Amino acid sequence: MNNSTVHKLIIDTDPGIDDAMAIALACAHPQIELLGLTTVFGNVSVDLATRNALSILEQFGFADTPVATGAARPLVQKPLPHPDFVHGQDGMGNIELPAPEGKAQALDAADFIIEQANAHAGQISLVAVGPLTNIALALQRDPQLPLKLEKLVVMGGALDEPGNVSPVAEANFLGDPHAADKVFAVEWPATIVGLDVTHKVLLFDSDMDELQQRSAIYGDLLRRSSRFYIDFYSTTGAARDYPEPGCAMHDAAAVVCALHPEWFETVSGVVRVVEDGVAAGQLTMNRRGYRYLLDHWEGRPATSACVDLQVDAVKSCFINSLC
Ligand code: BDR
Ligand code: CA
Repeated sequence: MNNSTVHKLIIDTDPGIDDAMAIALACAHPQIELLGLTTVFGNVSVDLATRNALSILEQFGFADTPVATGAARPLVQKPLPHPDFVHGQDGMGNIELPAPEGKAQALDAADFIIEQANAHAGQISLVAVGPLTNIALALQRDPQLPLKLEKLVVMGGALDEPGNVSPVAEANFLGDPHAADKVFAVEWPATIVGLDVTHKVLLFDSDMDELQQRSAIYGDLLRRSSRFYIDFYSTTGAARDYPEPGCAMHDAAAVVCALHPEWFETVSGVVRVVEDGVAAGQLTMNRRGYRYLLDHWEGRPATSACVDLQVDAVKSCFINSLC
């Protein structure tokens, strides 16, 4: 990346403790111009996601950054319960963020994405870190949208490692598997940042303490909200092999990928997301380009998915940008 390049970002988000980390990075990084946040149900209801998005931006000094409210439920399936045991009842680790002063845009999320993509054709990195419902709706309303973006980076799915909400499914893809499968039916300049890589970049209690000390604006909010998330990791056993209590920074890793794709190793192939049944939400990829007996992977474009990353570079980018 040229050091002077400025990336225009829209984050589609369901804040969410690690979503707040992604938003902080987008606000703090000198090479990111945050055009707006679009919200979606997921970690919390869409109304609470919008409230959190507005309040987080105000806490970070970005009150003027637009927030557009999106989908309240998945395209087809019945909504799943919100995971309050992961992100707290308020989605932010029960830290009681102040009520926001600002309001969401009149445009909904899908229309906001389309409007911005038309205004800045070929320049926007859309980073989707919640269920893909808004992205599928935007694609439905404007089938040319993929041609108007610089890139689409999706935090979701798990290729080679187990899921985090079922043995095979990751939370964002299970949140709306029909939307995810629709999105990958067409060609985008897209990269999937799934659990295969996001589980490798860990933030420990000591990192969060350091952030709190070094970054008055971002560190305090992230330190307080991450306590609940880190406790969840500890109680479920996800942190069993960690040297100290910690958590993954899933959504922030996707923002880093938008900026520094050179730190990520990818594979490519036609993607299908299982829509229902016992494997609902599973990310599948025809990496070998075979013609299989079953033709579910025929006639679709290839998509890239990350399988490895430079852990230290990604983590330092996050921490140093906030400080
Ligand atoms: C993803 O699910 C959500 O709980 C997180 O915010 C992240 O986007 C990780 O599976
Ligand atoms: Ca999220």
